[in-house]
Formats: sequence, C-alpha cells, structure tokens
Amino acid sequence: MGRVTASAPGKCILFGEHAVVYGQPAVAVAIEQRISVSIETLGSESESWKIDGMQFNPKRHPHVQALRNRLWQHHQGAPNLVIQISGDIPPASGLGSSAALSVAASAALRTARGRWFNAAGQPQNTNSWAEGYSSHFENKELYSVEDQEINAFRSGEDGDTNHYVTDESVVDLDECALLAHSVEAVAQGGRASPMDASTCAHGGIVLLSDSLESDEEYLYTRRLEMPEGERIWHLHSIDLPKSTEEMFLVIGNTGVHAPTSHQVAKVAATIEAHPERMKEIETIGMIARRGIQSLREGDYAGVGRAMSENQIMLQGLGVSCPELENLIRAAAPTALGAKLTGAGGGGCMVALTTNPKQTSEAIELAGGRTLISKFGNVGLSIDESKNLPLWTTKPKA
Ligand code: MEV
Repeated sequence: MGRVTASAPGKCILFGEHAVVYGQPAVAVAIEQRISVSIETLGSESESWKIDGMQFNPKRHPHVQALRNRLWQHHQGAPNLVIQISGDIPPASGLGSSAALSVAASAALRTARGRWFNAAGQPQNTNSWAEGYSSHFENKELYSVEDQEINAFRSGEDGDTNHYVTDESVVDLDECALLAHSVEAVAQGGRASPMDASTCAHGGIVLLSDSLESDEEYLYTRRLEMPEGERIWHLHSIDLPKSTEEMFLVIGNTGVHAPTSHQVAKVAATIEAHPERMKEIETIGMIARRGIQSLREGDYAGVGRAMSENQIMLQGLGVSCPELENLIRAAAPTALGAKLTGAGGGGCMVALTTNPKQTSEAIELAGGRTLISKFGNVGLSIDESKNLPLWTTKPKA
C-alpha cells in the first residue's frame, strides 16, 4: 500500500500582522514546531475518507476539503484516502497551524499524484508543467469558494507529448504555498495575506513587501482580489547577515481561542467605519520597515524595539486582549521586545530574547504555556514516500 508523509513548520510574526492584509510590509519566521500529514489509499470497499480514525467531515476540516477539490477529485477517479494529522503546533493560536496543515497536505497530495510534464519539461520549469498551480499562471478561480473544479491542466510551451514524473521532485514550494493561501483566503472571508502559507512552505524568514527588495532573495509576487480591491505582495526570503545562535523566540499561549477570520473582519469593520484609521495601518508598516532594517543590520535590540512598538499599535487597533497583555508584561523585563503574534484577540504572544529560560519562566508564572524556538527553521519537507503514485490521471490533450 502506498503512503506519503509531509510536514511543515508553524510561523510567528515579528512585525506587520493585520497591516499586511492591506499591503503593508511584514516579516514572519518559521518556528521549530511542525504539523505532519500522512496519507494512504483506502481499499476499494471503503466509501469515504478517514481522518484521524474518524469519518472525514468537510465542515470540521475545511482546509483538507478545499485541497481535495483542487488536487484529488473523486469524479476523476481519485481513490479515497486515510489521513493522519499530528504535530506540536497548538491549533487556533496564531502560530499558523492551518497554513502548516494546508502546505503539508498539498505537498502530500502532489507527491501521491505525481505530475505530468510536456515532453521536455523539467520539474523546475513551470512553463512545461502539463498540470499544476503556480503564481506564474493567471488563475483567479483558484481563490473561489467551494466545489470549484479546476483541473489545472496546462498546454505548456514544449509541445503536446507528455511524460509523467512520480517522485518527490514534483513538489514545488510555490504551488504548495499558493494552494495554502487560496484555502486561507476562503477561510478568512476573502481577506488573507500569503504570509502564513509562504512562511510555512519556505521556512526561514519571509518578508512581504509592497515593493521589490533588491537586498533580499525574491520568491514571487501574489495578487488577491479582496472585498476592498486588489492587493499585491512581493515575497522574499531574508538571509540574516549575523548569526542568530544567541537569539530565541519564546512563544506564550494564552489558551484563549480567537478565530483569525473574526479578528480580520473586526479590523476591516473598524476601517470601513473610520477610514482615517488607515493611518494606523500605515504606521504599522513604517514600524515594520524599521524592524526590517534592524534585522538586516543584525541589530536585535532594534528588532525588539520595533516589536514592542508594533504591539502598541495592535492594542490601539483593538486586536490585543488582557490575557495577551498580561503575558507580554511578564516577558518584557527579560526580553528585547514582545508582542502578540498572528491575529490576536487571544492565541499567542512572542518575545525575542537571549534568555529563553528566564523569559519562559516569567511567562509561565503569569499563566501562559510556552514554546521556545530558534530562528531559521526548515520549511516543508517530504518525510516518507512509498509505492508512488497513489493515483494519477492523464492530462487533457
Ligand atoms: C494571521 O496569522 C495574520 C493576519 O495578518 C492575517 C493575514 O495575514 O492573512 C492577521
């Protein structure tokens, strides 16, 4: 029986959450904690998918359902699957658990399915893909809601004789990040930046900017039609100039659940009612720019200051909460900076510190549960693949 297991890290945001939805710059870091998705085909007698030992319920797992619509369509003959999800990223806590799940699941499905190429096509050359999703292709429908059926077959440029590849080389980080972003956009009522999805896919440190940053490695550009108009993000990977050996992120979980979609909608409603408050969003963008400069210079005191200033703006926007502020206050004396991370309203805070033990103890004493992570963690990985493909289909002529 065939099996594929893929995993992806969670993320934490140094600066710019919420403002990034409006096109302002932001930086996120992949953390050590990961989610792992394992898929196997079921015998032909089984009637539906299984997920963690239970019958698959699309309402409980909307991310998996959305990926299934895009990559594993039953009407094309895709077999039913057994899925196991495991990992150490707490759900609904601002650490990107749903993006990590979507990235890992899309990589597992792509590996399980393989990919068709035009005759001369190589995995690295998206122009020669005969099927698949990439930011190099115009594909607005990818972001549409439910049960849309895009086969994503492409004619490519190299003729129509196809060949098929079924090994891990068919996994493309851009494709997994794009699929995960499309799923997040649906879950967040049409307003979602590609920050979580891209950080969980690429790992390391990811910078989103409103302009091309010549000092950083360019990844791709994403566009999304939001209710307020089109947004564009240029994504980059940041290579830190100075070693981060001494630097730790201590994450404190309030245990309060606050869905990202509510928090994003709350900010949108505030701005709609008071358009002048867009100034606060722009100020977060300015703080993020300063933080990014400090990061490039290896000035971690400056990074910490920008994080704490960012927190003040997030408080003003109404997305913090007393539980988060309590943990941030507790962390402050031993940290270079601290703020909420993710959508806020609950979930997690993050402190940048050279004293992870002390900072973690202070947060725990104040009632938070902590995780410690270093910088620069790896992104998506395929951890196991056996008896490929689990399913394949022929591209349309
Ligand atoms: C959620 O992790 C970050 C937000 O900025 C939403 C987004 O970027 O889509 C709140």
